[in-house]
Amino acid sequence: MQTGLKGRDLITTQEWTKDEIDTVLDLAFDLKRKQAVGEPHAYLRDKVLAMLFFFSSTRTRASFEAGMAQLGGHAMFMESRTTQISHGDTATEIGEILGRYSAGIAIRQVDWGIGNAYERAVAEASRVPVLNMQCEMYHPHQILADLMTIIEKKGDPRGKTINVSYAYASSYQKPLSVPQSLILLATRFGMNVRLTRPPEFKLMPEIVAQAEENAKRSKGSFEIVEDFDEGFRGADVVYAKSWGAMLTTHDAEESARIAQQYTDWITDERRMALANDDAIYMHPLPADRNIEVTDGVIDGPHSVVFDQAENRLHAQKAVMALTM
Ligand code: CP
Repeated sequence: MQTGLKGRDLITTQEWTKDEIDTVLDLAFDLKRKQAVGEPHAYLRDKVLAMLFFFSSTRTRASFEAGMAQLGGHAMFMESRTTQISHGDTATEIGEILGRYSAGIAIRQVDWGIGNAYERAVAEASRVPVLNMQCEMYHPHQILADLMTIIEKKGDPRGKTINVSYAYASSYQKPLSVPQSLILLATRFGMNVRLTRPPEFKLMPEIVAQAEENAKRSKGSFEIVEDFDEGFRGADVVYAKSWGAMLTTHDAEESARIAQQYTDWITDERRMALANDDAIYMHPLPADRNIEVTDGVIDGPHSVVFDQAENRLHAQKAVMALTM
């Protein structure tokens, strides 16, 4: 177990050692047990988390806010549009000033080419840790909750096959952050990671290279498949969700037009039957129901999406208690 994490930013799990991530998971399971039996765990009494959102959220906001209350502190909700950011507050000013009011700053900024740099600029200026609530590259707290869920449902993740797949959605061009964080973390933990996606929906090459390197070190594996059905075969974990064609075009309408070729990339009962009998279906939510995944699958016996959403709370409480 690695302690001494006070003051550490969490922008991507790739910047934390495996021992440090093991510590987060260990504490997350402990906090989940404490919550279940009503054992108080006010580790952050009187502390404030400043939460700054540039983009909408249901689960992330609610779980960070509930988590801070359960840890004895307070979460301060801020939306960029109701701040003075559009009138000139810089990332340095946000880091300097919010860092003097709070014990941690959590940010969601998913704009392509902007979000990650913004969070890092705030972190550079801040005296307190910055926690990434999702940028255009990474969604580390989602993926910690996902790994916790995989361990709960499947046991030791080493040697298990996870299909990290593109699926079609019509609602909007979603960031690459979930599949990118997922291939990075699953390869750290010795999983056989299969990235399934059409040729226009590539992930960032430097992240794919990191995932390949991770897999070598952990004795897991990493492969890329372009056939949607093939991705399901023999999978223990099916994690199929949409993302935009950001590396093919920066134009959202063009990305949506490209995606039109793949409207049949929907997770349905026939495809789930290609996976192992006891495979689990995961999705970070929100899902485009009956477009990205059928009701039969997301509400069916393989689906663990509600436990997965719950684990956001426990994983984030662990990160906050360790870093703030
Ligand atoms: N999965 C996730 O991050 O959900 P929200 O966008 O609702 O926060």
